[in-house]
Amino acid sequence: MSTLWHGRFEGGAAEALMAFTVSLPYDRRLAYDDLACSRAHVRGLARSKIIGDDEADAVLAALDQVAEELAADTLAFEPTDEDIHTAVERRVTELAGPAGAKLHTGRSRTDQVATDLRLWTKRALTDVAVRTLALQQVLLDRAHGAGPAYLPGYTHMQQAQPVLLSHHLLAHGWALARDVDRLLDCRRRLDVSPLGAGALAGSSLPLEPDLTASDLGFSATFENSLDAVSDRDFVAESLFALSLLGIHLSRLGEEVVLWTTEEFGFAKLDDAYATGSSMLPQKKNPDIAELARGKAGRLIGNLTGFLATLKGLPLSYNRDLQEDKEPLFDSVDQLCFGLSALAGLYETLTFDTDRMRAAADTPYSAATDLAEMLVDQGTPFREAHAVVGALVRDSIERRVPLAELVAAHPALGAEGAALLAPGVAVGRRTTQGGAGPDPVARQLRRFERRVELDAERVG
Ligand code: ARG
Repeated sequence: MSTLWHGRFEGGAAEALMAFTVSLPYDRRLAYDDLACSRAHVRGLARSKIIGDDEADAVLAALDQVAEELAADTLAFEPTDEDIHTAVERRVTELAGPAGAKLHTGRSRTDQVATDLRLWTKRALTDVAVRTLALQQVLLDRAHGAGPAYLPGYTHMQQAQPVLLSHHLLAHGWALARDVDRLLDCRRRLDVSPLGAGALAGSSLPLEPDLTASDLGFSATFENSLDAVSDRDFVAESLFALSLLGIHLSRLGEEVVLWTTEEFGFAKLDDAYATGSSMLPQKKNPDIAELARGKAGRLIGNLTGFLATLKGLPLSYNRDLQEDKEPLFDSVDQLCFGLSALAGLYETLTFDTDRMRAAADTPYSAATDLAEMLVDQGTPFREAHAVVGALVRDSIERRVPLAELVAAHPALGAEGAALLAPGVAVGRRTTQGGAGPDPVARQLRRFERRVELDAERVG
């Protein structure tokens, strides 16, 4: 087979070589960015008078034609098209003749692929951030709608203290806000053009990398050509930011799995976001939530696999780096699907706030309030903790309602017993960032503002 680089070779490439090394089946996704990269490069070549304006026009027209063929899915690929860059260049040369053969002047696929992938990743991270914000908005809307509803808060999966449902939902929301921040931070750092680095060392031709960088909308240009063609930090960083986002989605998913069980019964899935069983007619399964949990493993695998690929690679470009694309594309795809599915699931989930309240209204969940009442009276906390702990143990062992024992306690009495009444404890979480109505009202406003500001930053 005769390839782009056949000049130095006597025979054609073996089929086994092509089968193992082609990346076209997946790097076709870079086509749009590859065309943008080529347009900027050709304009740069003309600006520097390396090619004539007529030649540039002919190549730009051919690139437009390739864009049309790609959009219409009529571009016929050849067995020798190793990757999208090769395919586009071959077709441009067919269309533009000798001018087409000048497209690759002063450029290597090495700086080209790095440029394409950065352009693609900038857009992909933006897309993931937009979808994450949409899920945050759903959590915010549900938090607003939750009003005074409360449920048990857990530590060690044991009931601890009651918390407002809105507070619980926003806890997930803030984690997602950090994900958006990480995606944007990552996007800012990768916004550097490698175009002009050539194969690894720059060029003898009067190229102007700063101008092609701004033509492509990059904020900066590479400082070191070796680094420019071999740096895939941006892929590893993106995979990390995406993995952590996926882990947050897996925690949201796990919660839906728990909450929709018969045993918890805190929530019911909408039919459109639930699945049935092929054998058990009564089943309604939370498959979206389970896959949100399960896919996190795959996202982590994409990250760790690629880190292993990078480890120990000598400068500068090595073909190993071609392994950057599939994990990145896969992580972005999985998250885009997952974010939309979870947003729909959460939007349509029915909360059973009666079940939540019933589960939270055990008198023991106000035990800390009793201890804090004693603290108010001047008892050291450790002593207060022991006093209330003993009352709880007594209540459980002798099966006497805690309120009765509290009422009979000289320092607690009726005022203490009143703290155990349903709904009282959650109202007493008054400190900044706490789980009660006053701080949560403030938190809702801050979260709303944060989502608005992040939407502006995402652009
Ligand atoms: N398909 C290759 C990649 O994704 C393009 C660069 C190949 N460059 C080279 N000199 N063999 O990395």
